[in-house]
Amino acid sequence: MQQKKPTSLDAEKVIEINGLYKSFGSYHVLRGVDLDLYKRENLVVLGKSGTGKSVLIKIIVGLLTPDQGDVRVLGQHVDQISYKDLLALRLKVGFSFQNSALYDSMTVRQNLQFPLVRNQKQLTKAEVQYEVERVLDAVGLLQTINQMPSELSGGQRKRIGIARTLILKPEVMLYDEPTAGLDPITCLEINALINEVQERFHTSSIVITHDLTCAKAVGNRVAMLLDGKFERQGTFEEVFNTEDSRVKPFYEYNFIQ
Ligand SMILES: Nc1ncnc2c1ncn2[C@@H]1O[C@H](COP(=O)(O)OP(=O)(O)O)[C@@H](O)[C@H]1O
Ligand SMILES: [Mg+2]
Repeated sequence: MQQKKPTSLDAEKVIEINGLYKSFGSYHVLRGVDLDLYKRENLVVLGKSGTGKSVLIKIIVGLLTPDQGDVRVLGQHVDQISYKDLLALRLKVGFSFQNSALYDSMTVRQNLQFPLVRNQKQLTKAEVQYEVERVLDAVGLLQTINQMPSELSGGQRKRIGIARTLILKPEVMLYDEPTAGLDPITCLEINALINEVQERFHTSSIVITHDLTCAKAVGNRVAMLLDGKFERQGTFEEVFNTEDSRVKPFYEYNFIQ
């Protein structure tokens, strides 16, 4: 499978992280993270379990505060803005957490209406209906609109989760292990969807994954979190063309079994 091409380098930066540190007690998770996300690119973040990938995303959306360093999202310092501005910023940054669940007691339609009605109180019923159908169509699941989450497959629930994030028209998408726990065919579908979202909604995205097939399929660039920082960033080939004993097992596990 071919790696996607990098986006043009003169593109504007939508996320800029410099010298980021974050510890929990004596556990130093992030130790000098530098990372940029360019407009309209998909940046894949790789790293072993427990290396701080989800922590990084939580810092980007202001759910955790950095100990040190500079984190700018759409031009704003997330740890320095007011709570009101942070809430406004979060509407432009769609994030889907690992295992982020749909509400089981609500239909697909109600699940999608929920964030929209809460955040955009001025919308008419017809406008809400239109937006729900628009995002459901974008993820190819318009026919499930009146179904309950329990009636859907794991892959379909994942798609609805992505639709629920898209309904607020975010500029940035943060996908935390979007293909975790899915079978290989469904993984391919989710990868295709991530690429479609990029094309159709012109979003810039960070995709956290363990899955190198996913990394290759969706990433314009790859960054690997090693010992608390991104020592290796670039194209797939640039990151994996190394004898580094921390990197090679990752590759071998995925491709040489
Ligand atoms: N709120 C928290 N309080 C204390 N420790 C945390 C907290 N969030 C994450 N950690 C720890 O930070 C490390 C990195 O977590 P995480 O970012 O979730 O890893 P992953 O790369 O698998 O997403 C883990 O060891 C985790 O236990
Ligand atoms: Mg995680």
